[in-house]
Amino acid sequence: MLKRHPVASSVVLLSGALALFFWTRPAPVTASAPAPAPVATYGRCPPSADGIGKTFMGREISHVMGHPGIGWLERTEREKEEAPSKAIALLGLAPDAVLADIGAGSGYYSFRIARLLPEGKVVAVDIQPEMLAFLKAEAAKLGVKNVQPHLGAVDDVRLAPSSLDAALMVDAYHEFDHPAEMLASLRAALRPKGRIYLLEFRAEDENVPIKPHHKMTEAQARKEFEACGFRFVTNKPDLPWQHLLIFEKP
Ligand SMILES: C[S@@+](CC[C@H](N)C(=O)[O-])C[C@H]1O[C@@H](n2cnc3c(N)ncnc32)[C@H](O)[C@@H]1O
Repeated sequence: MLKRHPVASSVVLLSGALALFFWTRPAPVTASAPAPAPVATYGRCPPSADGIGKTFMGREISHVMGHPGIGWLERTEREKEEAPSKAIALLGLAPDAVLADIGAGSGYYSFRIARLLPEGKVVAVDIQPEMLAFLKAEAAKLGVKNVQPHLGAVDDVRLAPSSLDAALMVDAYHEFDHPAEMLASLRAALRPKGRIYLLEFRAEDENVPIKPHHKMTEAQARKEFEACGFRFVTNKPDLPWQHLLIFEKP
């Protein structure tokens, strides 16, 4: 047929070439890089006193701090010990920013940050209903309207795609028992170029008086966040006890 009818064969050849072009054409470029392949790096270890016997990229995950620890989170010496005011100033948030405080606990950071966001808000995420009840009571007592308590799951922040400018995790990430899934859900919830501010007690410094499972090294944090598709931006060395690591969604 193709040999016998030159016009028809040209039409057939042209259609074939067009079909091949559209079939092999790369997907249109979107604003954000594609999500990385899932990280399958969980393991098991004999549970230590402060750990759960599950590891992520070689680090044993710690127990969750229960709600009876609210008193410790709200202690008056905290400003002197950890300089949270300085940490908050270092975030440099815009007044209309939408920030998720993940593992917000009693909302120690959430309420202090919300004051700086008159046109924005803090979504205070936690997995313990008792923490959320405390947050709600505190918001009512203080008359604060822009702290929104939000129940997350252990493996999902349960926030809408591209709904956040930034996320903060203070002394919380090392407790996540599904860190890869949490970071994947957070990656979806952040806008492109959205930032994660990770505050963890410095494991490199033995003078920081915190148990080893509740500390992290910069190297370990970078390993985990980079494997989950975040770009390392910087580590601000200004705080007395903690790293302030900044990561960005590409
Ligand atoms: C040590 S407290 C820190 C609270 C607060 N960020 C602060 O520094 O005052 C850690 C909090 O993380 C919460 N948490 C643990 N795993 C979580 C998860 N997967 N998602 C959200 N919150 C989580 C715990 O319930 C707890 O309230």
